[in-house]
Amino acid sequence: MSAKPPVLVTGGAGFIGSNFVLDWVRNRDDGVINLDALTYAGNLENLAGISANPKHTFIKGSIGDRELVRDILTKYRPKAVVNFAAESHVDRSIHDPSAFIQTNVVGTYHLLEAVAEYWNDCEADERAEFRFLHVSTDEVYGSLDENSPAFTEDSRYEPNSPYSASKAASDHLVRAYHHTYGLPTLTTNCSNNYGPYHFPEKLIPLCIHNALKGTALPIYGDGRQIRDWLYVLDHCRAIRRVLDAGQVGQTYNIGGRAEMANIDVVKTLCRILDERRPRADGKSYSAQITFVADRPGHDRRYAIDAAKMERELGWTPEETFISGLRKTVEWYLNNENWVRNVTSGNYRNWMEANYGARQ
Ligand code: NAD
Ligand code: DAU
Repeated sequence: MSAKPPVLVTGGAGFIGSNFVLDWVRNRDDGVINLDALTYAGNLENLAGISANPKHTFIKGSIGDRELVRDILTKYRPKAVVNFAAESHVDRSIHDPSAFIQTNVVGTYHLLEAVAEYWNDCEADERAEFRFLHVSTDEVYGSLDENSPAFTEDSRYEPNSPYSASKAASDHLVRAYHHTYGLPTLTTNCSNNYGPYHFPEKLIPLCIHNALKGTALPIYGDGRQIRDWLYVLDHCRAIRRVLDAGQVGQTYNIGGRAEMANIDVVKTLCRILDERRPRADGKSYSAQITFVADRPGHDRRYAIDAAKMERELGWTPEETFISGLRKTVEWYLNNENWVRNVTSGNYRNWMEANYGARQ
């Protein structure tokens, strides 16, 4: 660990968190403490490349364990906390919201309490430098019509799923800890990410996995729901930028200006796979596309207006949807062992619970 104060990252063994930690270790001199409960979505294999790197310290534990968080804060004296830890899958929240309330709402509350206590006890120079960055989602804003303008930081919160409601609650808690106690917070609301280490329960990695297995590529409803896609490393870069230069108490929308209907996402993916690893029978992977029962309460469209990030912090995405998707496919083709390891055990039970009844 370097002499400079580290950052404390929570949820750094998950999809975005592990990309962020790997990217941080590549780009920064200061260290990173990584607190992760290692739920089904957390995977130490994501961090194998830095397991011996002195800049990275992994601690298994929950953001809801206030004593543990307090101990970590007093031992390592981080200059910032970046909170990725959450339950993140909308379909799981529909099947059972309880873990979402526990982690995203109650867990965030305990984390804020521990952090506020630490921050209050810091010396003046540490207090001035300290930041609590909360990583949130565009889903808190609800659903857009086809022609409505994209979500801005001023859009009203209208969460529609247990997942987005729990994230909205956590955003409100973060806001309240700034407003009431002066905690120096930053909140980011990002659109759909994709890239390496994405757990294959989400649309893009699931479809890559199923395509290569020769099974159905399940499209909910009519497949015309729109998401705004951002390559995960562009998101990580945006978070670093907000951490370095964001205004305390502010929120920042992050998105790729890459709106796509789900069916077009999957068809594009199939075309890339057709080029990179053609099916043995010469047919396109798109022959595996299968329309299945819709997600209950399925939000029709998300779109992020990232003008504030561009204007105030000079951030724009480096990847287009196509360049990012090509990199993503390449990563999955080169990391079939990673996929094999995460799709054993409990993964199969989830697939049966979510897709068994949709056929
Ligand atoms: P993920 O599900 O892949 O990873 C979540 C991580 O949090 C896992 O490593 C898990 O073990 C850990 N975790 C869960 N409960 C914990 C607890 N109580 N204490 C400590 N660690 C815990 O999620 P992700 O897709 O990487 O998302 C990370 C964050 O970014 C989430 O807050 C999510 O809401 C937000 N977000 C995600 C996206 C996206 O497209 N994936 C977009 C915008 C915002
Ligand atoms: O918008 C940001 C959000 O993006 C994050 O806050 C969430 O953590 C993240 O999981 C993601 O949520 P989505 O619900 O948009 O992602 P998902 O990959 O589950 O689904 C993307 C779209 O594809 C959505 O409209 C549902 C649809 N879909 C999904 C699956 C898993 C299908 O059509 N078939 C599927 O099998």
